[in-house]
Amino acid sequence: MHNTKAIILAAGLGTRMKSALPKVMHEVGSKSLLERVICSLKNADIKDIVVVVGYKADLIKKAVNGVNFVEQKVLLGSGDAVKSALPEIRGFDGSILIACGDMSLIKSGTYSDLVGKHVKSGASCTILTSEFPEPHGYGRIVRDKSGAVQNITEEKDATPDEKKIKEINTGTYCFKSSVLSKYIGEIKENTVKKEYYLTDIIGILSKNKEKVITVHCEKEEAMGINSRADLAEANRVLNAKTLAGLMENGVTIVDPLTTWIAEGVNIGQDTVIFPNTVIENDVRIGANCKIGPFARIRPGTKISDDVEIGNFVEICRTEIGEKTKVKHHTYLGDAVVGKNVNIGAGTITANYDGKNKNRTVIKDNVFVGVGAVLIAPVELGRSSVVGAGSVVTKNKNVPEGATVVGVPARLFGK
Ligand code: UD1
Ligand code: CA
Repeated sequence: MHNTKAIILAAGLGTRMKSALPKVMHEVGSKSLLERVICSLKNADIKDIVVVVGYKADLIKKAVNGVNFVEQKVLLGSGDAVKSALPEIRGFDGSILIACGDMSLIKSGTYSDLVGKHVKSGASCTILTSEFPEPHGYGRIVRDKSGAVQNITEEKDATPDEKKIKEINTGTYCFKSSVLSKYIGEIKENTVKKEYYLTDIIGILSKNKEKVITVHCEKEEAMGINSRADLAEANRVLNAKTLAGLMENGVTIVDPLTTWIAEGVNIGQDTVIFPNTVIENDVRIGANCKIGPFARIRPGTKISDDVEIGNFVEICRTEIGEKTKVKHHTYLGDAVVGKNVNIGAGTITANYDGKNKNRTVIKDNVFVGVGAVLIAPVELGRSSVVGAGSVVTKNKNVPEGATVVGVPARLFGK
């Protein structure tokens, strides 16, 4: 976005998370809290990003790419965190968006809207706010009689009347760069928490007759992720959004409350996902399939049309051809399975030999009896049959049309 730089505050240790990991490294839907914020900003075309790190800075720097880092040496609060980023933006004249590394559900459109309205209004500062029915824990937006923003009061310092205010601070703001540099030094240490609150700058701006406005966002986006309970809630919100999108595209989700599907998973029309199914990222599923109940589909899996995957089946890094059935208690890993294959109950691909992951190839029209073990690398030729309970040992490929049985599996006939 034209003439906009972003500062993400991510130095805090996240006391409420009670973790050895910095809070912003915890994941919501297989992406860290911080990476989610960075992605959203980049999708809003804000490419110039400075991340303020402190607690376990090296760990974050190693894990995150495509941004600049500054270190906040001592964690003296959000106001101090912004101050430590100022040398990075010295000489810059434009808009500075300040985001929090733990506000991971804010959409890119919301960031664009914030910057757009800020620039258009000519305000000195624009605060992203939301309405919470239960605003406990958040900074409250205090307005005067005319409705103009007067200051932000943190929960700990709020009077009983201020605590009743439902409009909350999302910790996300857009500043004129000159205004931010001019007033940031005026923030005084909070006497209760011994920290410099960034939120105190709002009162300072309003006293100095600088224009402060607000832009509103949905409450689903505005939650800060501070604890394990917040993390679970954020995962739930994200999952509900993903499932809603799939249902909109013609996928039946029998029980959205027990179904977990990663964002970006592609599923074709008229496929039915039964309860208690988990589908991880980097998975594609065709049309008209039946998946679950109690199935787990892991990354790198591609499932064609009209496939049935039943209960207690785990599939990982595997391709499955049309009309194939894998209906009960099976593990397929690193396999390529053709069309019209029947995988009997309890079949296992032994893909890991203790050192390497090896491939299993199962050609079209193969019939695998119940309880077979296929020790990879191995190939089952077209239309071959593996008897129930057989162990097909590695590299003992089964010829096209052959039947094998026993432990270890031997040729039985054609
Ligand atoms: C902050 C806001 C609050 C707002 C809420 C929204 C302040 C004082 N309060 O409260 O008004 O409603 O966010 O979620 O800003 N950080 C640093 N260095 C520090 C301290 C914090 O970089 O010394 C970072 C944290 O890593 C975090 C962000 O600043 O990403 C906000 O800090 P946090 O402690 O989560 O503030 P809240 O209490 O949630
Ligand atoms: Ca927070």
